[in-house]
Amino acid sequence: MGGSKAEEKPAGGGGGGGGGEDWWCYQFGNKDALIVKSSKKSPLALRMVVFTMTMICGIFICTMCMKQLGSDSLSRIVKIEVAEQLCNKSAILHSEVHFVHYPQPITYSRSECKCTPVRFFAIISSQRSGSGWFETLLNSHMNVSSNGEIFSSKERRSNISSITKTLDKVYNLDWNSSASKNECTAAVGLKWMLNQGLVANHADIADYFNRRGVSAIFLFRRNLLRQLVSQLANNHDRYLKQLNGTHKAHVHTAYEASILARYKPRLNTTSLIRSLKQVDDYTRDALENLKSINHITIYYEDLIRNRTKLLDVLDFLKVPRSKLVSRHVKIHTKPLSEQIENWDEVYNALNGTQYESFLNADYRI
Ligand SMILES: *[C@@H]1O[C@H](CO)[C@@H](O)[C@H](O)[C@H]1NC(C)=O
Ligand SMILES: *[C@@H]1O[C@H](CO)[C@@H](O)[C@H](O)[C@H]1NC(C)=O
Ligand SMILES: *[C@@H]1O[C@H](CO)[C@@H](O)[C@H](O)[C@H]1NC(C)=O
Ligand SMILES: *[C@@H]1O[C@H](CO)[C@@H](O)[C@H](O)[C@H]1NC(C)=O
Ligand SMILES: *[C@@H]1O[C@H](CO)[C@@H](O)[C@H](O)[C@H]1NC(C)=O
Ligand SMILES: *[C@@H]1O[C@H](CO)[C@@H](O)[C@H](O)[C@H]1NC(C)=O
Ligand SMILES: *[C@@H]1O[C@H](CO)[C@@H](O)[C@H](O)[C@H]1NC(C)=O
Ligand SMILES: *[C@@H]1O[C@H](CO)[C@@H](O)[C@H](O)[C@H]1NC(C)=O
Repeated sequence: MGGSKAEEKPAGGGGGGGGGEDWWCYQFGNKDALIVKSSKKSPLALRMVVFTMTMICGIFICTMCMKQLGSDSLSRIVKIEVAEQLCNKSAILHSEVHFVHYPQPITYSRSECKCTPVRFFAIISSQRSGSGWFETLLNSHMNVSSNGEIFSSKERRSNISSITKTLDKVYNLDWNSSASKNECTAAVGLKWMLNQGLVANHADIADYFNRRGVSAIFLFRRNLLRQLVSQLANNHDRYLKQLNGTHKAHVHTAYEASILARYKPRLNTTSLIRSLKQVDDYTRDALENLKSINHITIYYEDLIRNRTKLLDVLDFLKVPRSKLVSRHVKIHTKPLSEQIENWDEVYNALNGTQYESFLNADYRI
């Protein structure tokens, strides 16, 4: 699905967790706040008492912490603090610090890349907007790992705690998918459709993104009429399974594309304008609610016309520019008039309305 070479992640647990607890106590014992400033005149015995008290206090707090947190979460806190300390952040712009992360995966070790900064992202889109194609393009980059439509699973999006747990795993680089790269991943994310719990939980999700420094790539389609045709053709194939009995949402050859594009839907012109308006309003509202997130907005039509738009996305993710490739082949390439059964009716229904531009805006590849 991810369309990239999935590299095996090195096995083995965490690594480096063991010595961490000692480090934490040591660090805590040395905190300036705990060192009582004593004047030079104080007798040595008093100093020793203060010193011993400090030590006992430190050990006591340390033990309490371990009991309360459990050694598992404690060692995780320790590991994160170690990484934050060891990795030299001075080259990172002040405005960028919030978006730069050093995840400590539980399932493997980032070893020599533990100080490779990682950006968190999410491709936020809607069905039939070219997001599948877009994601394979991103995954062809050696440092980008986009883990697919993780929230197509109802269970994962059933409530906000379930969503948060899933996101934590993805952003900790612990999500295993065909798109998982290696320990040197520099941008990790997923593809998320608006109707997959995103609109339903928009406030909590925007809050999570802002708190954890996750950036969003809004990918939408301008021509909602074309999107509708693609959606209807996809639904049609879901039932008919035209390619040797399997349903395909995306194809890799022009031959397969031509088979899927043969179907010309008949649109209900009575409800057409209302449907288009519904989709339009739904997206508009969603973007309004999510606009506080650090984001870039991309339109499918612009990507098709001008591939250099992809470089804007790579710059946004702060990964090196490189050529991106995808094996996906576009399904509907003909003018709309040849793809809608009742074109004349549709034309008359939309001519002179706010959606008129959808009729004429055709593009060539
Ligand atoms: C990831 O999944 C693949 C197969 O789905 C498996 O072979 C591999 O061991 C898994 N890697 C980790 C680190 O769990
Ligand atoms: C951090 O990196 C900068 C250059 O990017 C360098 O000047 C500085 O000495 C480094 N600091 C440490 C503690 O390594
Ligand atoms: C990209 O990945 C390669 C190979 O894994 C690694 O050597 C390189 O440092 C990474 N680049 C960035 C910017 O993270
Ligand atoms: C959230 O959903 C998960 C998975 O469906 C479920 O196990 C869990 O009990 C739910 N939690 C709450 C607070 O509803
Ligand atoms: C269907 O399968 C046959 C062989 O089993 C293959 O030659 C043909 O290309 C396939 N057609 C499609 C549309 O995938
Ligand atoms: C078209 O939509 C209208 C309004 O939703 C509905 O009443 C009508 O039955 C639909 N026509 C067809 C052929 O589905
Ligand atoms: C393509 O997009 C780039 C970056 O967005 C822009 O600088 C360039 O002018 C565009 N080229 C054309 C032919 O529109
Ligand atoms: C579209 O509507 C305009 C008037 O609003 C009319 O002049 C034109 O002929 C219409 N186009 C078609 C193809 O019917």
